[in-house]
Amino acid sequence: MHTPDPRRTTAAGTTANGDTGPAPSAVSAPPPGAPAGDARAAGSPATGADDGDHPRVGWTEGEVPHTARWRSESGAPAPRRVVAGDDRMTADAAYKLVCEGTAVLWRGDYHNARQLLQAMARRADRKRPARKRRRGATGPATPVAGDQGAPDESPARAFHLHRKAQAQRARLLGMLLVPLEPGPDADAGPRVPLRRAPDVGAACREAWGAGDAAEPAVISLRELLGLIGAHEWRRKGVPIPALGGERVHAYYGVFSPVRGEYVDLVAEAPLPAGAPEVAFDIGTGTGVLAALLARRGVRRVVATDQDPRALACARENAARLGVAERVEVRAADLFPPGRAPLVVCNPPWVPARPSSPVEYAVYDPDSRMLRGFLDGLAAHLAPGGEGWLILSDLAEHLGLRTRAELLHLVDAAGLRVLDRLDTRPRHGRATDPTDPLHAARAAEVTSLWRLTAISGAPPSDTA
Ligand SMILES: C[S@@+](CC[C@H](N)C(=O)[O-])C[C@H]1O[C@@H](n2cnc3c(N)ncnc32)[C@H](O)[C@@H]1O
Repeated sequence: MHTPDPRRTTAAGTTANGDTGPAPSAVSAPPPGAPAGDARAAGSPATGADDGDHPRVGWTEGEVPHTARWRSESGAPAPRRVVAGDDRMTADAAYKLVCEGTAVLWRGDYHNARQLLQAMARRADRKRPARKRRRGATGPATPVAGDQGAPDESPARAFHLHRKAQAQRARLLGMLLVPLEPGPDADAGPRVPLRRAPDVGAACREAWGAGDAAEPAVISLRELLGLIGAHEWRRKGVPIPALGGERVHAYYGVFSPVRGEYVDLVAEAPLPAGAPEVAFDIGTGTGVLAALLARRGVRRVVATDQDPRALACARENAARLGVAERVEVRAADLFPPGRAPLVVCNPPWVPARPSSPVEYAVYDPDSRMLRGFLDGLAAHLAPGGEGWLILSDLAEHLGLRTRAELLHLVDAAGLRVLDRLDTRPRHGRATDPTDPLHAARAAEVTSLWRLTAISGAPPSDTA
């Protein structure tokens, strides 16, 4: 099922299990002569405000106050204190500022800003003693960016500490900011008015929509790098072996089947008797499973999602893959009206609170989608039909859900298990012993649970 690290294409390269790693372009080593010089604290503290429509960020430069729209797809609040920085600023100075809660608005060379971000990331990642305490301090210790928990931590505590540390790292690194200006025309998307800056118009336009860059704005460089990375992923697409190697293209913020063992499970599971006329794909994302079912001969697939980007993305992929006539993509909270002989769902698999809106494909607070799918399934299955639940057991290895709890949910929903198909992740992370969640990842199995309604007469459709 999910690859241990199935990814959405997100601002910060969000991966499963809360790893919000920097965009790929932000991790290589800096060349000699990285930004030098002292902090050019050309401004004084300014507070972010909200103009009613969009949050704003404020700062002072050369004694002149400025404000701009604050852009954050990851939902980070506008920084309250901002100073300008340029190529003379050292990584130590920048890191000290952000640790003190002051963001740095970059005015120097774009590539130097990227190198500065890498240098700041190294500082954030530096090994620190786990949960260092002040002498005599009481109460819970504060995790630091490099804190991975003690070896004897319970998996659940190690997971929460890891997420906390990752969130802190993301917050610190998110405080290196770059300006955005409207491009030459409304459709071009914004531009970064810095020396050697790349063309970011298409990446921003894809994430935000056309025409949403009409005013000066400020964005974290880390998030901008994520947008650029997502644009590249979308352009290249992900080859899907079960679709004969054809590619699926994930929009920004839409769950990508980049590690797609779970897709193979859906390709291999026997279709319910009398190959279905119709199937539902609940939470379709890129539409990969809907397209696969159509390719397997299902004549009509109704694919739902709540995320407008996913809906647009699934429609585009269905068209590219030549199955648009068989795949109907519609906005719905879980199920479309009616019943089907086959209902497929690959819900987010970690029952924890997302730390930003783009994490909703991975984190399912209080197992809302999982419970909703199971509770509503019997009412949407045709007699003798099957529900295919695709679910990783990573949450079980992390101590966030037990197998007994899952089976209880199945039972309480009037369902029984017909069969289970399993797969193991093939990605490198599963075998990386330095990963703080290694034990859980190494044990992870993703399953396709074939479920059916217990009673011969399923409950009436309330949809
Ligand atoms: C883990 S992703 C799976 C995407 C796709 N089915 C796949 O297998 O690659 C979960 C998807 O469920 C969607 N989703 C979450 N809650 C939903 C709800 N209540 N109704 C419909 N879709 C939902 C998310 O937007 C996301 O696209």
